[in-house]
Amino acid sequence: MATNAAIRITPSVLAADFSRLGEQVALVEQAGADWLHLDIMDGHFVPNLSIGVPVVASIRKVTSLHLDVHLMLTDPGKYAEPFVKAGADTVTFHIEAVDDAPAMVEQLRGLGVGVGVSLNPGTPADAARQIVPMVDLVLVMTVWPGFGGQKFMPECLDKIRTLAGWMNAEQTLQVDGGIDTTTAPLVAGAGANNLVAGSAVFGATQPGAALKELRRVAADAAQRRALEQRV
Ligand code: DX5
Ligand code: ZN
Repeated sequence: MATNAAIRITPSVLAADFSRLGEQVALVEQAGADWLHLDIMDGHFVPNLSIGVPVVASIRKVTSLHLDVHLMLTDPGKYAEPFVKAGADTVTFHIEAVDDAPAMVEQLRGLGVGVGVSLNPGTPADAARQIVPMVDLVLVMTVWPGFGGQKFMPECLDKIRTLAGWMNAEQTLQVDGGIDTTTAPLVAGAGANNLVAGSAVFGATQPGAALKELRRVAADAAQRRALEQRV
């Protein structure tokens, strides 16, 4: 069971000002961001388009942050390698998008990258039961993917608790969608140890301060959870 209270905050550039992306990345890096989340959408798996390989490659040149690439693609296997070549450190695919999830994990392992699997709000934890021990990261979507700025879905909390019970402290249990200072303690208290936040960071007047506050409230909740588990 994951009892490690360390929390990672992963700003999502989807909510950044793309006309000055390098500056925005530098800002969150200086403020202590742990990872950087890059949302890749194909207009098919999700009803929206976002950035692609050249943008990831450009970001790679200006930061040493861990690049966390979230593939919201119908055919993740077709595009995994270009994103790894562009500098991705972790690549996360959606379990709903593939027929053979273990084969997708194996393909990503062969590329020498961290491997993540993501679950949409409608996908039960059980769907990932077999794959959880094979991956580095499980991403629980706490909104339907496709857009930033949506409302957190509290019905996903039970799924986070279940997955946390199946994962070890070295694995990453990530959440994505509607994470702010109100919802961060809820997900961290349920066992998430990596929080993606777009609007709550880049939509704030002071993104650096917003990031630090998110970490503070999430770390407090994770600490309380760790103490409860020791009782
Ligand atoms: C949604 C994306 C998220 C998005 C989160 O499809 O996967 O990463 O950027 O945005 P916020 O934090 O604004 O809900
Ligand atoms: Zn995402």
